Amino acid sequence: MEKYLEIVEEILSWKKISRLPSIREMAKKMNCSPGTVIRAYKELENRHRAYTLPQSGTYLIEVVAESEENTVKIDFLSASLEPSLRPMKVFEHCLMQAIQTEHYDYTLPEGLDTLRSVLAKHFEKRFVYCKPEDILITSGAQQGLYLIAQMIQREYGNGLYVEQPTYGGFIRVVESLNMEAAMFERSFDGIDFKALEKLLEEKSIKWLYTVPNYHNPLGTDLTKKDKLKLLELAVKHDFYIIEDDYLGDLNLNLRLETLHYLDISNRVIYVTSFSKTFLPGIRVGALVAPKPFIEKLKILKKSMDINTCTLSQKGLEKYLQADIYHKHIKKVRAAMQKKLKSVEIYRRPFESAGVNLFVPDAGLFIWMIFDRRIHIKELIKDLAKKGIAVMDGDVFYYRESKASHALRVSLSNVDEDKIHQGMQGILEVIKWQKSVKFVEKGRREE
Ligand SMILES: Cc1ncc(COP(=O)(O)O)c(C=O)c1O
Repeated sequence: MEKYLEIVEEILSWKKISRLPSIREMAKKMNCSPGTVIRAYKELENRHRAYTLPQSGTYLIEVVAESEENTVKIDFLSASLEPSLRPMKVFEHCLMQAIQTEHYDYTLPEGLDTLRSVLAKHFEKRFVYCKPEDILITSGAQQGLYLIAQMIQREYGNGLYVEQPTYGGFIRVVESLNMEAAMFERSFDGIDFKALEKLLEEKSIKWLYTVPNYHNPLGTDLTKKDKLKLLELAVKHDFYIIEDDYLGDLNLNLRLETLHYLDISNRVIYVTSFSKTFLPGIRVGALVAPKPFIEKLKILKKSMDINTCTLSQKGLEKYLQADIYHKHIKKVRAAMQKKLKSVEIYRRPFESAGVNLFVPDAGLFIWMIFDRRIHIKELIKDLAKKGIAVMDGDVFYYRESKASHALRVSLSNVDEDKIHQGMQGILEVIKWQKSVKFVEKGRREE
């Protein structure tokens, strides 16, 4: 090993040291020339393990070991990509470029102009046509949804319709703002339009929230006919639609229409995320809306966090510009389809255990509906003891008002081995639960 690398290793093995010895002291200690020590200190800086302050010295950056307390072995809960699919290495280069061009200043609440231009082009590939000025960059889609809900509450009072089940994060926003919402049914057959139209006659409406494609949690898409019907109702009853297209990039060039694409009456606010197909930690999302809404949302955004982190924005911009994104998405889509296919073999065994599996051919989630003999809350606890984390279907309902008797299983953050282990684990726990008799809800007699 070269001498300078020996010095690096030596320093990294030291405990509890902050300021490194001076070049001269270190050269004496290691029996080498000052030039070799300088090279070693530079190497530490290149590895981001040290920094030098002029006229002061070189300091080590402490690395705190990650806690290993996590007992979840099979994560069917998280919707983030599994580590092997996260494009971290390439994104690191993009961030380095971002660091060189960004100057860590505040920016406009609507986001960097350059990113908005890149996004306007990018969205064309999803058949979402807009101009940069129609876009507001948000700190994740979640913030976009929160800002819209805040705007609705201020400007319109209530008058919000929400499909259910639906994304729990939006339902929690509505609950936390204490908004009254009228709920309408979304099922595997789409929207129950008869019931929705009846509701529309009874209750005033100004806004409606839906996840038309790759529904969270059901995994289904609305048909084109249903999308057009929804837009027709929006015109007839004079309301706006919040379209949550959180997995929009799974749809690049695939032609699963968005409501935004089909809309010819400016009735849609389009909200989207990069978390599920890219990196959730960068917290960059976006919304596309007619100008008057963008102006209102900009003011709310500014009062909330001034602007979304400029480094993250610039990093994403570089990544999208480098055109690697397309390849990355192709890889993610293929991996997800393979995972969804891999659970097909469990359909029968689950059916025999009284569970219906709903497996879409694209997206992240499968939905399991259980027969009434299975006590879901107990099942979740028993699965947790085995290290299997799943999502209770009740969280996808307003004020958790409905016993869904269902679980959402996300295949995003697990590889195929884990999927098999997890599915078998769930089957075992169901069978075990069925072998014990329930005396009353939640209490069992072994
Ligand atoms: C349907 C849906 N919308 C929005 C979000 C929020 O995404 P983001 O991480 O961009 O805030 C999620 C995250 O799980 C989601 O599932």
